[in-house]
Amino acid sequence: MASLLELTSQGDVATITDESQLSKVVLMTPQQLYELWERQPWQSSAIDFTQDREDWAAMPEADKDDIVWFLSSFFIGEERVATQFNGLVGAYESQSEEHFLTTQQVDEARHAQHFNNFYAKVLGYDGSFEDRLERARRDLNEPFKILFDDVLVDANRRLLEDPTDLEAKVDFVTTYHMVIEGTLALTGQDTLTRILERDGILPGFLEGFRRISTDEHRHVAYGTWFLQQKARDPALRRRIQSTLAELIPIAAGVLTPVGVEVGEPYELLGVASDEVHGFAFRALTRRLKVIGVSLAPAEGDALRA
Ligand SMILES: [Fe+2]
Ligand SMILES: [Fe+2]
Repeated sequence: MASLLELTSQGDVATITDESQLSKVVLMTPQQLYELWERQPWQSSAIDFTQDREDWAAMPEADKDDIVWFLSSFFIGEERVATQFNGLVGAYESQSEEHFLTTQQVDEARHAQHFNNFYAKVLGYDGSFEDRLERARRDLNEPFKILFDDVLVDANRRLLEDPTDLEAKVDFVTTYHMVIEGTLALTGQDTLTRILERDGILPGFLEGFRRISTDEHRHVAYGTWFLQQKARDPALRRRIQSTLAELIPIAAGVLTPVGVEVGEPYELLGVASDEVHGFAFRALTRRLKVIGVSLAPAEGDALRA
């Protein structure tokens, strides 16, 4: 056991920089992840946005547009992952897994609440929660809608129809935990957090966003654990690979701002596209190494491009 690396803080393998350690990692179990959730509570409604309102008023219009594009993907993304999660909760295979999954659904609702508060109190989007979601939807690109409105909704529906369908569960966790959370959300969080820290702005938003990031690492840790268990079966391992092959080009499109062709270089708020896509590629491949699934070179290139 001495050569094994035990994860106890975040549950996620993101903090392991020495790649040779990845094959020795002992992942946290759903019971340990549930207990970690109990130690990491926070309140979205307690966040103070006073300074954020001043920062927003002083920001150049072009920067506002870029930040709103980023934020809208998150706002709608959190709404989607909160409402399209009940299939997985019903597909639990142990009490500990069921309890962890219920905490994740509460987390996703809290994340959507944080964005709703920011859009209402700082961006000044009037009306109801639904009105703000509808307005934020106008900022989204086509690959986002394919992934969140078609692929994710379909994966959840299949699990609701038959919670004992293990292939449907593997497809769902590959889509949700590996691609949406582990590749897209954590990449967007890293990028936007670095931008806001660099500029020293939007402290209230950032406070909630950091808490969201901690929650997301815990969620991705569950997905890594689950897929590692299931990937021992060669048929399920191939299934994970083929789902990834299908979704990675779409994920690359989600990361690409409106008006830019996928694969074309771009810069957003001073951050270059190869930094963003490189982070996403490393985030995914590191976890796949732990799970025991390899990515075909073409897929890696699609994400890195
Ligand atoms: Fe979330
Ligand atoms: Fe999440």
